[in-house]
Amino acid sequence: MAKGSIIELHRNSGNWNKIVGDIVKLERKIFPKHESLATLFDQELRKKNSGLLYLDLDGEVVGYAMYSWPSSLSALITKLAVKEEWRRQGHGEALLKAAIEKCRTRKVSRILLHVDPTRTPALTLYTKQGFQVDTLVEAYYSSDRNAYRMYLDFDSN
Ligand SMILES: CC(C)(COP(=O)(O)OP(=O)(O)OC[C@H]1O[C@@H](n2cnc3c(N)ncnc32)[C@H](O)[C@@H]1OP(=O)(O)O)[C@@H](O)C(=O)NCCC(=O)NCCS
Repeated sequence: MAKGSIIELHRNSGNWNKIVGDIVKLERKIFPKHESLATLFDQELRKKNSGLLYLDLDGEVVGYAMYSWPSSLSALITKLAVKEEWRRQGHGEALLKAAIEKCRTRKVSRILLHVDPTRTPALTLYTKQGFQVDTLVEAYYSSDRNAYRMYLDFDSN
């Protein structure tokens, strides 16, 4: 696979506007409106307890993962996506692993996420990385779209 670099976007990054702009474009393309953070991305990212990793391949943003740690108990993976033409090359898994490591440094004991059960690639990837289904949340995304809530627990030692 083309390797690229996974980079953390910082609030004071000089390229903030460009990177957020590129991600908003991807977000609009990949997710339906009711699941998209496109209009809120900048706002979400400026919150204190949130972070964003993106994959840069020769200057092109081809994937991203967003996470937050609202309390000391658990963190959330709030977004994960890879540009369509770059899928099935290990990038999604690399981004997810990097986001898990970022959450681990926050000393939380659990990571939570939500995924539409019909999103087989994502569901398979999360399961591969050790996430387990906790519960089905009905009408999570919209009146006719449910979500699995999944969790990954860290060892206490
Ligand atoms: C989910 C997503 C990020 C995966 O990205 P990716 O770069 O294609 O994934 P990878 O190449 O790293 O695949 C890693 C693992 O994911 C699973 N996977 C990925 N694509 C899959 C597919 N089409 N079908 C089944 N499993 C799949 C496999 O377990 C794979 O491991 P393997 O290669 O050893 O079989 C990507 O499909 C995507 O952006 N989807 C649309 C957005 C989305 O659904 N995001 C999640 C919202 S909760």
